[in-house]
Amino acid sequence: MRVLSGIQTTGNLHLGNYLGAIKNWVKMQDEGECLYFLADLHAITVHNDPAALRQNTREMAAALIAAGIDPDRSILFNQAQVPAHAELAWLLNCTARIGWLNRMTQFKEKSGKNREGASVGLYVYPVLQAADILIYQTTHVPVGEDQRQHLELTRDIAIKFNTDFEREIFTIPEPYIGATAARIMSLRDGTSKMSKSDPSDMSRINLTDDADMIAQKIRKAKTDPEPLPESLDGLEGRPEAKNLVNIFAALAEKTPAEVLAEYAGQGFGQFKPALADLLVETLAPITARFNALRSDSTALDDHLAKGAEKARTLAQPTLDAAYEALGLVHRT
Ligand code: TYM
Repeated sequence: MRVLSGIQTTGNLHLGNYLGAIKNWVKMQDEGECLYFLADLHAITVHNDPAALRQNTREMAAALIAAGIDPDRSILFNQAQVPAHAELAWLLNCTARIGWLNRMTQFKEKSGKNREGASVGLYVYPVLQAADILIYQTTHVPVGEDQRQHLELTRDIAIKFNTDFEREIFTIPEPYIGATAARIMSLRDGTSKMSKSDPSDMSRINLTDDADMIAQKIRKAKTDPEPLPESLDGLEGRPEAKNLVNIFAALAEKTPAEVLAEYAGQGFGQFKPALADLLVETLAPITARFNALRSDSTALDDHLAKGAEKARTLAQPTLDAAYEALGLVHRT
């Protein structure tokens, strides 16, 4: 089993990233060979402040290590230090079809009304993501639900390339999407995803939030006046309540049904403080480690350089095989 996943370096880690993806990344370190990377080349597809990018890249490395990614066991690196990602992306741009990219919902959301003014990079973003995955013969990709469409595109690109050139150049990867935490929603609106780009900081829990801030955000989180129901059916049509139960379940490593069995009949006046306590218990040690690591940029750069060296070695054979299959004259 070879595991790979990435995270953009556009801001800080939030609870959606942690429960939807990173928690699984940490667990999978016991199950296979893991590569985790900072998607800095993806971050520049939208407006980019160079100083912020540099800082975010290092801080995201610190956040991942603080969350439990062990740079001695996993290969932790940033895309910009492994040129094979961008090189393979070009080859795959020639395999991916415009019609396939036109169906990508994330591009439509991110480009919004100003589609003509969006960067070409934002449009071909999913092709670079396919290159990230396929360059390492990845078998499993742990991600949140919002990445499912990009993973399907990755599989389509790999299948077409293998078929066109009549060789098994790429392994066809499987998405690994958890059951309860695959889509953590905003604390202010249970119908939209918790995200870095939401202008309201009250909509998300950040890794950098302290215990008081977490308690305040949970206290102010949108809910409804009903008590918690006995069964999952009772959460239908109550997106905010469902989201808080899912967050509780993911943190406690229980199913949502088990959480309801414990809290059925209780109102949010009782449930919210229990949830805030659980959040603080989980996040406080991660935040403390993050604060200890974030300022040592020399140590972080060192981890990333070592990770990138290993990643380059693993990537090269696939890149060579792809050049060869296409008939490109190249050095090996
Ligand atoms: P990114 O940086 O938006 O998010 C990183 C991971 O966090 C997950 N996630 C969520 N999960 C549950 N609920 C949420 N509210 C939530 N918000 C974010 C995402 O699904 C993701 O797993 N395109 C990717 C980065 C990427 C990548 C890759 C991932 C680039 N190349 C190759 C996998 C493989 C992205 O923007 O993730």
